[in-house]
Amino acid sequence: MDLDFWEQRWNQNQIAFHLPEVNPYLGEYWHNFNVPENSQIFIPLCGKSLDLAWFASQAYSVLGVECSEKAIREFFLEQNLEIQTGQLKKFKAYNSVNIKLLQGDFFKLDRQILKDVSIVYDRASLIALPDKMRQKYVELLSQTLPDTAEIFLITLDYNQDHMPGPPFSVNHDEVIRLYQSHYKIELIHEDDVINNHQKFKERGLNRLVERVYRIS
Ligand SMILES: C[S@@+](CC[C@H](N)C(=O)[O-])C[C@H]1O[C@@H](n2cnc3c(N)ncnc32)[C@H](O)[C@@H]1O
Repeated sequence: MDLDFWEQRWNQNQIAFHLPEVNPYLGEYWHNFNVPENSQIFIPLCGKSLDLAWFASQAYSVLGVECSEKAIREFFLEQNLEIQTGQLKKFKAYNSVNIKLLQGDFFKLDRQILKDVSIVYDRASLIALPDKMRQKYVELLSQTLPDTAEIFLITLDYNQDHMPGPPFSVNHDEVIRLYQSHYKIELIHEDDVINNHQKFKERGLNRLVERVYRIS
């Protein structure tokens, strides 16, 4: 599952993961995190998510990383935001007033780039990656984020034998295994949402558990 795979998905407009609205879990659970205005929210594998604009509207500073130039350009175009471009280390940087999107490979991020992050917002990021890459993803986050940074994580858990990813199934035990050596893990929401997802039902799933975590 390399960058070409995602480039192709974007070029062919196969972006069923993209929500046409702000993720409802933000409205429900963001208050569990006590985040002062102007804090920096980091959104790995951000796509052109409307959540980026929601964070900016809440007076946060937003940092996203995304490999697809098409996704980044569409985000700014659809939000009607003017941009300036530049270079930040191995990334092309797209800057608007309080949103900076870095185009490039998440795995090339370093401590200096992430030094001001207060919260990581992970929706469809960890679960976009296959098994081995998930371990590398969490290793990179735990080694490069400031010690005080917290993570708002949303996962999906289903029978992986019934459907290949992405999105990949990441069950509760895996979240514990991935994060427990560096973080405290708090499960704040859990629900089987299969009845709201006809397409997944048609692909053979009879269970689709969504979980929201606060990882600190
Ligand atoms: C499943 S989508 C989720 C996008 C977004 N989080 C959302 O909720 O709409 C995963 C995104 O990660 C991007 N991506 C995948 N691997 C990446 C990598 N190594 N570095 C940067 N972006 C990556 C893809 O292009 C895709 O837009």
